[in-house]
Order: sequence, then C-alpha cells, then structure tokens
Amino acid sequence: MQIDLTGQTVLITGAAGGIGRAMTDAFSSAGARLVLSDLDVAELPSGETALPLPCDVTDAASVRAVVAEAQKRFGQLDIAINNAGISGPFGTLSQLSAEDWSRLIAVNLTGTFNALQAEIPAMRDGGRILNVASLAGVAGAPGLAAYAATKHGVVGLTRSLAHELRKQRIRVNALCPSFTETPMLDSMGPEKTRFETPLNALGRFGTAQEMADAALWITSPQNSFMNGQAITLDGGISAL
Ligand SMILES: NC(=O)c1ccc[n+]([C@@H]2O[C@H](COP(=O)([O-])OP(=O)(O)OC[C@H]3O[C@@H](n4cnc5c(N)ncnc54)[C@H](O)[C@@H]3O)[C@@H](O)[C@H]2O)c1
Repeated sequence: MQIDLTGQTVLITGAAGGIGRAMTDAFSSAGARLVLSDLDVAELPSGETALPLPCDVTDAASVRAVVAEAQKRFGQLDIAINNAGISGPFGTLSQLSAEDWSRLIAVNLTGTFNALQAEIPAMRDGGRILNVASLAGVAGAPGLAAYAATKHGVVGLTRSLAHELRKQRIRVNALCPSFTETPMLDSMGPEKTRFETPLNALGRFGTAQEMADAALWITSPQNSFMNGQAITLDGGISAL
C-alpha cells in the first residue's frame, strides 16, 4: 500500500528519540510536512518541509508556541503524534520516589494533555491524532507501575477523545508498543534482557522502524474507520 501524505502536515513530539526519529523518517518518505519537537532538536532535519522546534511538553505554553509556529509555517495540522515520554526508574512502587512519580505524570500524562489541548483547535476536520501509549497502557507492568499508570491515562484520553471529536471527524488512536530497541530501553541497562524473550512469541524486542511503519498506516487516509483504539504491537505478548 502506497501512503502519500504530500501536502499534509504532521506534528511529532519526542521526535529526536528512537521511535520519534524513525517516525520522522517514515513521514518524510511519505511526503508529509514535518513539525518536529523535542527538548533538543539540534540533530533533527530542517528545511522547506521540516520545522524543528524545541519544546518541553510539561510546559503548556511551550507546546502552544510550537503549534502556533507550525500554523504560521504550514497552516492547520492534519496529523498529531504525541510520542514524547519517559520510563522512569525500574523498581517496585515502594522504591519509587515522589519526585519520580511526579515527573512521570508531568511528562507522560500532563505532557500528552498539554499537547492535545494545543493541537486540537489547530487541526483540520478529518485530522488524525496518535498518542503513543504502551503495552503498559492496557496491561500491568511490574517494576514500572507508575509508568503503567500514566500510559493507562493516555489510553483513557484516547478513547474519550475519539467520541468528543466526532463533529470534527478527527480520529484518535493510541499505539501501544511493547519493549522496543531505543535509547529508552537501553537506559534500563542489564535489566532489559529480562524482557527479551520469555513472553514474546517472536522472541525479540520490537524495532523503532516497526513502530513508525504502524504509526504511518494508523494515521493514513487509507485507515479511515479505526477510531478510539489502543493498538498493541508486542510480538504476541498480549495474546497470552
Ligand atoms: N522503547 C520502548 O520500549 C517503548 C515501549 C512502549 C512505549 N514506548 C513509548 O514510546 C515513546 C517514545 O519512546 P522511545 O522508546 O523512542 O524513547 P526515547 O527515550 O528514545 O525518546 C523519547 C523522546 O522524548 C523526549 N522527551 C522526554 N521528555 C520530554 C519533555 N518533557 N518534552 C519533550 N520531549 C521530551 C526525549 O528527549 C526523547 O527524545 C514514549 O512515549 C515511550 O513511553 C516506548
């Protein structure tokens, strides 16, 4: 299936990370105009069809400024991908500090809320929103309970907005990857090998490319009837 997004504008948060960078390349190949935001955008493409803008999603004014710049350059948004996120430290809930809990809520949940509030008024009718949640947004994640709580929140926002935005015909879905080879997974150090194979029918981690290809299709005009879904890409883990 050929996905052609020529003339369409996509905004991606967390665009400099593993999955965000793969999405950047995938949407660029499909011909989209790119608004690329992250804490640091120095390594991101820039040019006539790519606008890198620094942004901290925990700061509502920072996200509003990105959307305003995007509109100035490209007009209304067609696609918004809320992908910025952190995992927090691995460990039991009783080991988690109040600061780590607050930071997870601020980036993963409030950050998604801030982005949605800024993006929705800037979207064309018929636009598409993809929130990057996690398998931990639809299932428990021992060792990452606070992370799982934030990602369940992201799925809740997704399902609710799919109905709230019906008048504008904006489709809202969530992508729910399991462990994927990115800097986030690497930050877990040796712990990461514990998750590699036992529950995964394919016996390996996902790749950022696989997540980006799915994001491209989920938000494509061809995928016109999917709405309010939390789509797991997990090598079969959730089938057990
Ligand atoms: N890698 C995995 O195993 C995995 C699994 C499930 C879900 N996810 C989700 O996928 C998304 C992308 O993760 P990734 O694996 O590419 O991780 P990553 O660490 O490579 O990328 C995350 C990006 O988010 C950015 N970011 C962090 N805090 C931010 C803030 N306050 N404002 C703006 N940007 C901020 C980082 O700078 C980074 O570039 C995240 O939402 C993550 O929770 C990842």
